[in-house]
Amino acid sequence: MKTSLLLACCLVASAAFAQSTLSSDPSYQKQCAKCHGKNADGRHPFGGPSLQTTQLNVDEIKAVIESGKGKMPAFKGKLTDDRIFALAAEIKDLSKK
Ligand code: HEC
Repeated sequence: MKTSLLLACCLVASAAFAQSTLSSDPSYQKQCAKCHGKNADGRHPFGGPSLQTTQLNVDEIKAVIESGKGKMPAFKGKLTDDRIFALAAEIKDLSKK
């Protein structure tokens, strides 16, 4: 009984964590969500593709955020390197699922 309660808590906690890494990142919501959607599922009127299905690796994602791509603006100088790296890792985590 105690074990199953503990297990249930862990499952809930990890599900919440899995859903909310990128979408709970304030930098993402401020800088990226208007084009890529609150949950990174894409927002086509603004031309931002879904980030949940990207085939890019972390370095390539980082390069897109730093330098921009197509209609996407560059974020180098607007976000710190640490923030850019964290965003890239969070996006990569999304696309693994
Ligand atoms: C003004 C709208 C806009 C904003 C703001 C924006 N993006 Fe984008 N993003 C785009 C568009 C449009 C593309 C597609 C570019 C192309 O392929 O030509 C894109 C592509 C990408 C890609 C590459 C996806 C792939 O699989 O090729 C990543 C990663 C990405 N954006 C992350 C971000 C992050 C992180 C932020 C916030 C720091 C952000 N974007 C902010 C419009 C935007």
